[in-house]
Amino acid sequence: MNIIRSVIKGCGSYLPEKILHNEELAKSVDTSDEWIVERTGIRQRHIAAEGEKTSDLAMRAAEKALLAAGLGIDDIDMIVLATATPDETFPATATAVQAGLGMYHGAAFDVQAVCSGFIYAMTVADNFIRCGQAKRIIVIGAETFSRILDWTDRATCVLFGDGAGAVILEAQEGKGDNTDRGILTTHLHSDGRHHDLLYVDGGPSSTKTVGHLRMRGREVFRHAVVNLAAVVHESLDKLGLEASDIDWIVPHQANRRIIEGTGRKLGLGTDKIIITVDRHANTSAASVPLALAAGVEDGRIKKGDLVLMEAMGGGFTWGACLARW
Ligand code: ACO
Repeated sequence: MNIIRSVIKGCGSYLPEKILHNEELAKSVDTSDEWIVERTGIRQRHIAAEGEKTSDLAMRAAEKALLAAGLGIDDIDMIVLATATPDETFPATATAVQAGLGMYHGAAFDVQAVCSGFIYAMTVADNFIRCGQAKRIIVIGAETFSRILDWTDRATCVLFGDGAGAVILEAQEGKGDNTDRGILTTHLHSDGRHHDLLYVDGGPSSTKTVGHLRMRGREVFRHAVVNLAAVVHESLDKLGLEASDIDWIVPHQANRRIIEGTGRKLGLGTDKIIITVDRHANTSAASVPLALAAGVEDGRIKKGDLVLMEAMGGGFTWGACLARW
């Protein structure tokens, strides 16, 4: 039976020019390169310039994705942007990207699921495409987490960075089996009881301020390994696939130990995982599309590969998206 699939036509990414190495960070907060590398695998992160907004990063990534897909903005009918660091409380940052790209038709909106945002945005976009309401969608993950960090809190400020990644999804006919190109299955979860483990202590309707990120890292870590392994198995089971069928895991890049731990649980080594956390740190919703773009640009991810994207973040939220490239 022929069905509609959301095929990934192209991807792109953008990182701010400024790079902040661990050694430099250790001059302003009580930490060290050794501690950060050993506990997280992070060596550096990119930081947006003064005045450089989430929409600016998002737009650069989207332009590159359009170029990679060989498409123009008139070919697109929707923009779905995942971010927890919008330019403003409203309107949606996606509308700033829409205007910046010269798109005066269709619809643009934001999705908020923190570090899982890109998986949520892919799921939303895939559903719009499969039900026939959109033919081509730009899905973006973009963040300026440097703006919401407490730069005096060594337990959090060393972990995050800024950046953006984007993909173009296009409706194409598939046979309806696992050999189809495009998104094969998506799975989303959330559990609001864990708010206090990872949140921002501000907001328009509570403190009327932007606030700073607060996290109980050890507890988050524990939940992450369990939840991520579970949602990966859920995705594979849905399609009757084995972990060994996966060509590439493209995980959320929070901590090298979480990434390797999830891989181990699946019996997959680091030769099957795209890892960028050393260079990008945790860029929240941008981390999966940034890693995707890295894997595609260096030739590792190829047409026909089975690619598993997964993420977990504040809320808690977590999810997975299994796609054939
Ligand atoms: N430099 C030096 N020492 C530090 C630093 C730092 N930057 N930060 C914390 N420490 C100290 C602590 O104070 C503590 O000292 P103590 O033993 O004297 O009390 C010690 O290091 C150990 O602290 P822990 O928090 O237990 O260290 P842990 O090994 O758990 O690593 C980390 C902390 C890296 C935050 C880890 O728990 C983690 O990565 N958690 C996941 C959090 C995350 O990635 N969240 C993002 C979103 S959710 C997600 O993406 C999965």
